[in-house]
Parts: sequence; C-alpha cells; structure tokens
Amino acid sequence: MSICHSLASFDIMKTCEGFSHLLLLWIFTTFLPAPSQVTGYVGHNVTLPCRTDFSNVTQSQWEFLSPDGNKTLIMVSSKQHGKTVHESHLKGRVDMEDQSLIIKNVELSDAGSYICTVTSFPDGPSQKNIYLHLKVPLRSSFDLFLKVLNSLLYHFLQKSKDVPFSRT
Ligand SMILES: *[C@@H]1O[C@H](CO)[C@@H](O)[C@H](O)[C@H]1NC(C)=O
Ligand SMILES: *[C@@H]1O[C@H](CO)[C@@H](O)[C@H](O)[C@H]1NC(C)=O
Ligand SMILES: *[C@@H]1O[C@H](CO)[C@@H](O)[C@H](O)[C@H]1NC(C)=O
Repeated sequence: MSICHSLASFDIMKTCEGFSHLLLLWIFTTFLPAPSQVTGYVGHNVTLPCRTDFSNVTQSQWEFLSPDGNKTLIMVSSKQHGKTVHESHLKGRVDMEDQSLIIKNVELSDAGSYICTVTSFPDGPSQKNIYLHLKVPLRSSFDLFLKVLNSLLYHFLQKSKDVPFSRT
C-alpha cells in the first residue's frame, strides 16, 4: 500500500489502492484454503470437527481467534496427560472428543474463528481453521417475539388504566 502513497496523482493513488486490494483478495482466495464453516444454533450443542489422517496423535488443542487477532487457548488434550480446560469464555461448556471440540449451550458471542492444532509423531503439528457461524433457532426467536409482544401489551394496558375516564 505504501507504493501507492508515493504516487503523485490522487486518482492514480486510488486506482492503485483498489488494484492492490483486488490483488490481495485474489491471493487470499487462490492460495489459502477456504476455512471450513460450521453452523451452530444458540442454546444447542455444536461440534467443531478436526479430523486428520494422522495415526499417532500425541496432542490436540483448540484456540479461539478474536477479530482483533488475539488467540485464547480453550482446551488441550494430550495422549499422555489427559484433558485440560483453560480459562476462557467457554470454560465449563466445552469438551473434546477425539480431536473435535464440543461446545455446549452455545451463545451468540461464541461465534468466530477457532483453530485446531493437532500434533502427531513424527509429522509434527498441523493446523485447521474453522469458523463457527451462529443462528438463533426459530423457536427462541418466536419466544422472544412473544415476550416483546407481552410487555408491549402490558405497557399498553397499564397506560390505559392510568387515563382517567371523564364521563359527564
Ligand atoms: C448438550 O450436551 C449435554 C451433555 O453432553 C446434554 O446433557 C444436553 O442435553 C445437550 N443439549 C442439547 C440441546 O442437545
Ligand atoms: C507412530 O509412532 C511410532 C513411535 O511411537 C513410530 O514408530 C511409527 O512409525 C509411527 N507411525 C506412523 C504411521 O507415523
Ligand atoms: C489481546 O491480547 C493482549 C495481550 O495478551 C491483551 O492485553 C488484550 O487485552 C487482548 N485484547 C482482547 C480484546 O482480549
């Protein structure tokens, strides 16, 4: 992008920037494997799969990648030492089965990128990125709608009670 800023004309600079954005997009879509996406439903359990072909898996772990690039270790499962759940927003709601991460009672804020790292012998570590996309199930959307309707109705009834009737 700095190459673009050294250009004298504003128009050429804009075109250059646009072009380099396109180029970047092309590089991303062409050379990086598309991250897998899993759809979960709020209030339900979801499984993020991390299958690998390795036979000698010694350790597997899951991290959460926040939009600002922070990685939070969620859970580590080791063949030798067993499972450890780390301090994160998911603590108390996660488990691992084989290499997959199971999130129970999913919340909207759980949405985002998850990184699975599987270490095997003698191949070493390999990573997989999975995006958890969340939907609110129809049932709870309907419940929410009923709640709002209910409180509106209540509000309306209270209001109409307050209005003094003036009969002559
Ligand atoms: C989620 O998993 C837990 C334990 O594995 C189970 O008790 C619960 O019923 C599951 N919830 C749903 C909505 O399937
Ligand atoms: C698995 O690990 C053992 C040593 O622990 C090694 O001898 C063997 O070749 C490994 N198998 C594979 C498929 O990598
Ligand atoms: C990101 O990580 C840094 C350093 O570990 C920390 O100071 C910061 O609070 C984190 N940001 C968020 C949004 O968690």
